[in-house]
Amino acid sequence: MTIRAVVRGVGHYLPDRVVPNSEFEASLDTSDEWIRTRSGIERRHFAADGQTTSDLATRAARAALAAAEMDGADIDAIILATSTADLTFPSAATMVQNALGNSNGYAFDIQAVCAGFVFALSTANAMILSGQARRVLVIGAETFSRIMDWEDRSTCVLFGDGAGALVLEAQEGSGTTDDRGILAMDLHSDGSYRDLLYVDGGVSTQTTGRLRMEGKEVFRHAVEKLAQTAHAALDKVGLTGADVDWIVPHQANLRIITATAQRMQVPMERVVVTVQDHGNTSAASIPLALSVGVQRGQIKPGDLVVTEAIGGGLAWGAVVLRW
Ligand code: UT7
Repeated sequence: MTIRAVVRGVGHYLPDRVVPNSEFEASLDTSDEWIRTRSGIERRHFAADGQTTSDLATRAARAALAAAEMDGADIDAIILATSTADLTFPSAATMVQNALGNSNGYAFDIQAVCAGFVFALSTANAMILSGQARRVLVIGAETFSRIMDWEDRSTCVLFGDGAGALVLEAQEGSGTTDDRGILAMDLHSDGSYRDLLYVDGGVSTQTTGRLRMEGKEVFRHAVEKLAQTAHAALDKVGLTGADVDWIVPHQANLRIITATAQRMQVPMERVVVTVQDHGNTSAASIPLALSVGVQRGQIKPGDLVVTEAIGGGLAWGAVVLRW
């Protein structure tokens, strides 16, 4: 008997405030045209004053639970991938746990920046396969608008706020790649690239800090490493790009998404793209795209899905799952 971590439900939440590219033209030497052509981004959502990451995460979690026809008490564990938690502690995940009325499970945050959701999926899978949990709520939620330098046009036009969530459940599989659920993963990090993408503050420096990025260098690593990690994950279970129904990539830049699909020899018709509407929502971008992909009727039960992401660390990885 093979146990698989199978998706039972997916959902997302985006804050009400939509900010089009043109809004930056008043305060920065930038243009809608530059942002669109260099990144593919057209608009993004920003959280309202006082709205926190755990608020966004709770809304997305409720939507995923509703899709799974479950409630908070049915969940054994909650993993929240975020780099923008409400407070230094406790974890934003425990705030979500409380809001969902779950007191019998356990909850914690994971921090791998834009790759956070891939790391969280992999952790949830390990907990399910080891029998530590049967039902795991995996959330990606961010309020990156809180760590922008609004005078730095090379970063502040790229990011947005949002949240997405999945409910995973242990189910019996046959042990083949026809099984629904998580089939393979590939994770990496290399701390020697710290200076390419970081926040220049944090608790132990007694500041909050702002996001700093060497965009061109991160771009170069992304194009090289994302296809590599996706191929490595597929390879572990004897699959190739030809078997993939949907690539659901981290949504940072349309040019990175396109280049990765090309390297994987997967046509763009089989890639879920939401970057134009959400911008880069870091750890929230993959679950947001999964949820929107289902809503649009793109991703259907039985489809082979590959997710891949890279971000600060650098940390990167991919997960292969059958929806
Ligand atoms: O989620 C984590 C992973 N992050 C990423 O994957 C992001 C990776 N990087 C990127 O997506 C791209 O590198 C960017 C979108 C950030 C930048 O695109 P680029 O084609 O690499 O542009 P660049 O940084 O080489 O800048 C080109 C020019 C520069 O001017 P000069 O030096 O050529 O005169 C920039 O100063 O564009 C200028 N520029 C802008 N111009 C108008 C930079 N930002 C802006 C802006 N508006 N907002």
